[in-house]
Amino acid sequence: MWGGRFAEGPSAIMREINASIPFDKALWRQDIAASKAHVAMLAACDIVSDDDAGTIIGGLETIASEYDTDGVPEDWDLEDIHMTTEARLAELVGPVAGRLHTARSRNDQVATDFRLWVRDTCDAMIDGLKGLQRALVSRAGEHAASIMPGFTHLQTAQPVTMGHHLMAYYEMAARDISRLEDARRRLNQCPLGSAALAGTGFPIDREMTAQALGFDVPTANSLDSVSDRDFALDFLGAASQCALHLSRLAEEMVIWASQPFGFIRMPDTLSTGSSIMPQKKNPDAAELVRGHTGRIVGCQMSLMMTMKGLPLAYSKDMQDDKPPVFEAAHLLQLCIAAMTGMVDGAEFRTGRMREAAELGYATATDLADWLVREADIPFREAHHITGAAVKLAESRGQSLEALSLDDLTAIDARIDERVYRALSVEASVAARNSHGGTAPDEVNKRVAEARKALGMK
Ligand code: ARG
Repeated sequence: MWGGRFAEGPSAIMREINASIPFDKALWRQDIAASKAHVAMLAACDIVSDDDAGTIIGGLETIASEYDTDGVPEDWDLEDIHMTTEARLAELVGPVAGRLHTARSRNDQVATDFRLWVRDTCDAMIDGLKGLQRALVSRAGEHAASIMPGFTHLQTAQPVTMGHHLMAYYEMAARDISRLEDARRRLNQCPLGSAALAGTGFPIDREMTAQALGFDVPTANSLDSVSDRDFALDFLGAASQCALHLSRLAEEMVIWASQPFGFIRMPDTLSTGSSIMPQKKNPDAAELVRGHTGRIVGCQMSLMMTMKGLPLAYSKDMQDDKPPVFEAAHLLQLCIAAMTGMVDGAEFRTGRMREAAELGYATATDLADWLVREADIPFREAHHITGAAVKLAESRGQSLEALSLDDLTAIDARIDERVYRALSVEASVAARNSHGGTAPDEVNKRVAEARKALGMK
């Protein structure tokens, strides 16, 4: 492509370190779409003839069907997807192929292709997350009144419902979707026509290519356009945050599936066995979601380090932008699908969950709240009285409800038999009916809103 200036060809090591075709061939659809839009615009602006543009577009369409059936050939000498396609175009249509690159550089070309790819990927991830939300919402609806222990510090805190717990992840997914939508909105400006860095003297129509490729507007500064990879970092930031959420759900499912907890049975289809221990059913998919999260965050770090301190405009370091984005997108898509399958397929063992909710004095706060409400005791004092009741029950290996009224009145004379109604786990969750609380009515309300937002029946 640039042989005119060189006396010698590249060494083997130059060819190898330079080649991005092994990974950027993933951009072939975007590259062909952008080339078609570019040459159509060149013809509309009388920069190339309609005949030549027609020939080039026909050639690009042939190449697209070749790539579709046979894959993209990987020739390191051709460096990247842009040169691979242009070289094939020259084979197919002859010297007229050389008109395609008028008023364009690979710098604006790759920036355009990559934005298009990230845009499609944001859409795919949003779709996937909506599927996860649907799974969460339908399981939450089934278990809006299924009581389990809620934890802080992984110590029993207060009873909650499984529906409430699952809906917490629905809310996280909603924020993840909004971050991806935000990234998508911000990236949707077209760099094409920025050329190498300074723009071009050809009378091009950047509005036209922007529109043809579904961008809102052309970018405003040619130097920024070829140097900017914020859009990829925005995607990676959103992907990292999303993966962090998925890894927390994955970890909870690992814990819930463990024998001492036994809150869920994982679906067979997302578990593995052991080659030596016949009884084993391991939550490998969840563990890999946890593991992949580290890699996704690593991808974000990788591109941040690539971009740090790069002078304007394009530097070849930026060719390293693609592997972390491709890897993160692939891993995140797997993680979303795996978690959707686990939420869909988990069997919730409501008996075990309820039993566990009765351990660990989960309704101690209800006793304290009762003292405040019914005996008008300041909360701090009620907390102290309840602490004494827990201490007594614990010394006897009993639950709070098992303490007799004599035991309780000996601790504080203002307690009467109505207190027992407040001490059951059912009463405890039903009482927490503040907006967004764990009361089954509240959970059902939010489930109904979510179903409506997702277009579910
Ligand atoms: N393969 C290159 C990349 O992905 C394309 C841009 C090359 N531009 C250049 N000035 N060498 O970044």
